[in-house]
Order: sequence, then structure tokens, then C-alpha cells
Amino acid sequence: MKVRQHHDLSISELGVGCYALSGVYGRKDPGEFIQMLHRACEMGVTFFDTAAAYGEDAERVLGEGVASYRNEVIIATKIGPSESGGPDLSPQHIRASCERSLRNLGTDWIDVYQVHYDDPNTPVEVTIGALEDLQREGKIRHYGLSHLPLPRVEQYLQSGRPSTMLMELSAVSREARSTLLPLCRAHGLAGIAFSPTGRGLLTGRFDAGTTFPPGDLRRIDPLFQRERFSSGLRIAARLAEIAARHGKTPVQAAIAWVLAQPGIVCALSGPSTIEHLEENAGGTGWEFDAEEMVSFERFLSQEEAGLRRAQHRAVHDILAAPLPPDTSQAFTDLVYAVETAILLGLFDEADVIAPFRELFGLQNRQDADARRQMVAIQARLREMLPAPESTDR
Ligand SMILES: NC(=O)c1ccc[n+]([C@@H]2O[C@H](COP(=O)([O-])OP(=O)(O)OC[C@H]3O[C@@H](n4cnc5c(N)ncnc54)[C@H](OP(=O)(O)O)[C@@H]3O)[C@@H](O)[C@H]2O)c1
Repeated sequence: MKVRQHHDLSISELGVGCYALSGVYGRKDPGEFIQMLHRACEMGVTFFDTAAAYGEDAERVLGEGVASYRNEVIIATKIGPSESGGPDLSPQHIRASCERSLRNLGTDWIDVYQVHYDDPNTPVEVTIGALEDLQREGKIRHYGLSHLPLPRVEQYLQSGRPSTMLMELSAVSREARSTLLPLCRAHGLAGIAFSPTGRGLLTGRFDAGTTFPPGDLRRIDPLFQRERFSSGLRIAARLAEIAARHGKTPVQAAIAWVLAQPGIVCALSGPSTIEHLEENAGGTGWEFDAEEMVSFERFLSQEEAGLRRAQHRAVHDILAAPLPPDTSQAFTDLVYAVETAILLGLFDEADVIAPFRELFGLQNRQDADARRQMVAIQARLREMLPAPESTDR
């Protein structure tokens, strides 16, 4: 497995993440996962990602899985949520969270400690100070950034020295190419692309009739809804054509495309079996031909234009029409509308965080009161939406 050097970090082109252990893609067997981690180490994977928020098992299993390769591998984990479940980036909490992660991982040091979520109540300089103290003490080697609003990322870049930036990036989630990746290049951070297979969408194994069992995050994930899913399936089919010309599988083409993005150091996928891991490793070590890349990018631009128009219509329709009678569907539609409106620049993330949290408080509720509250949230969101004339592009 090829590595890309970033300061003193030798980062393998394919990374392996442990989000699946939280159950987002259905229940996984920890024993099988550990075997997959052993195989990854044998194959030369050096970058492993987890988070306190994925549950203690996700850190314990990773620690156990890579223990005999501890000096060769990079363990990246993230600052855990507070007792109440919300973000807390105060020095006291960062220290306590780091100590807990070290215990769970069974290690004396964390190679990359990532800021998982923003805490608007703690100044960035204070968080950076706490992370640098841990660095001086040898408890962490580097710190990195994860799910943060863009202005916050800029503050960290001005005041601190983060080494890595985690971002969602795949052929079906390309936003980071114009937001976070240019910042990585300008400030010398290693870009780590998560969900390079589009949470399985780019494996070529899904079609328009695919459904997911209860508890699987993809039931509500915008990537798997409406016009976004249809567009994703078309992109998966195009990648499958390119892959076939190279004797590769669609997911291997998806990973090769991610690794070709300037500033990306690692494609961080989340397989839970040895078979999927080995397939994903075949996404490294080869490239699209120059002409293939140009023609694929042209195809993506056309997809983007059509998708944006359809998404503008969908956001307006979801927020204007009566919600569907099925409360789960109403919930999924509202999540889609909010996340899509943020992506399209119709909503400012900071403005919708409160109604979005309220909405998530209603997930899995089917009663009349939950529905009434969803209708009220829909009305608030509708009022925040710019008029259609100014948004239909
Ligand atoms: N997803 C997020 O929101 C997020 C956010 C921040 C950080 N991360 C980090 O990034 C890591 C990777 O993200 P991700 O888990 O979303 O990556 P991903 O690899 O794009 O998606 C994982 C899903 O794709 C399936 N898959 C992967 N390779 C496959 C293959 N070759 N054939 C068939 N199915 C395949 C997995 O199925 P199987 O389980 O059957 O293998 C799983 O359902 C996470 O584990 C986490 O460490 C993720």
C-alpha cells in the first residue's frame, strides 16, 4: 500500500474507519471487524479513524485490532461529546475526553486528535491551547479538524496549527472540492476524505428499488433520497464503465477518483469485512486516463447543474406542501430539505441549527403531537426560505 508523507505522518492512501461499529449501517460483529483490522495492518494500511461519539466499542475494537502494529499505525480519534451529549471544547472536557479515549484505545498516545463538532461557547484559542498542552505532554502527536462550519475552520487555521482536515468527499459528494480542499492546499493540511464509496452507493450494488432496514442511517441520509439518489446512481454507473476499462470494480474507480483530488492524502473508507477491505485497497495504485478524467468531470458538471435545479424545486415543495401522512417520511423529507438548503446556500447552517435539533428530537415518534411539532418546524423553515424567483437557478 502506497503512503503519502505528511510531516512525520506516513498516511496510507486507503484509510479504515470505525463508524460502522456505532450501528449506522446495521449491526456489525466486533470479532469480524477485528479480523478486518488485522488484515488492513498486514496490507500496509496505516491510517485508522474512530471517535468517542461512535461508542466506547468503536475505540476499544480499534485499539485491540491494531495493538500488535501500534508503532506502525496512525490512530485518529475525536473529542467526545459532553455528559449531556452536546459539544464541549473546554480544556477540562478535552483533557477528560482524551484520557477516556486513551484508556478505551489501550494506548499511551493518540496520533491525530480531531475536533469533532463545534462548540460555539468556547473560543477557538482556548481549545487550541488545550490541544497544544496535550501535544507538549505527548498524549497527542497532532490535532485535526472535522465537522466544523467554514468560518470556524478559518479561525483554527489563523490561530493554530492543525495537521489534518476530515471532509466528506466522493464523486457523489463533491462540495469539499470548493470549500475545504483549497484551504488544505493553502495551509498545508492533509485532506482526509471520508465516505469515498458514498456510504456504499458507488459500489454499483444499489438500484432505485434499494431500501434499508430500520436503524440504518441511509434511510434518512439525503444521499439516498429523491433526485440526489437518482443522480448518485447515474454517477455510479459512469464509474462502473471507467472501472470496466481498467479491469477494476466500480468502488475501486470511486476511490481512485478521490485520491486524484489535489490535497487529498487518504481515502478513508469504512468496510466491515475483509472482502470489502481488499476490494477497496484495489482503488489505490492506479489512475484514470487523462481523457477519462476530463470526460468524467464534464459529466459531473452536467449532473450538478440538473441536480441543483431539481433540488431547489424539492426544497420549496417539501416546505410548501402538506407533510406526508407517514411521520417517518415527513421527518426524512424535512431532514432532506434542511440539509439540501444548506448545501445550496439557501440556509445558513448557524440559523437552522435550533430547528434542526428540535426535528431530531422527534425522530422515531409517530404520535399526533410529534406531527404537530413537525408542521410548526416546517412553517418556521418556510419563512426562512428566500423567495423562489431569487433562488431558482
Ligand atoms: N459517514 C460519516 O458521516 C463520517 C463522518 C466523519 C468521519 N467518518 C469516518 O470515515 C470512515 C468512513 O466513512 P464511511 O463508513 O461512511 O465510508 P464508506 O466506505 O463510504 O461507507 C461504508 C459503507 O459502505 C460499504 N462498503 C464499503 N466498501 C464496500 C465494498 N467494497 N463493497 C460493498 N460495500 C462496501 C460498507 O459496507 P460493509 O459494512 O458491508 O463493508 C458500509 O456500509 C468512518 O468509518 C469514520 O471513521 C465518517
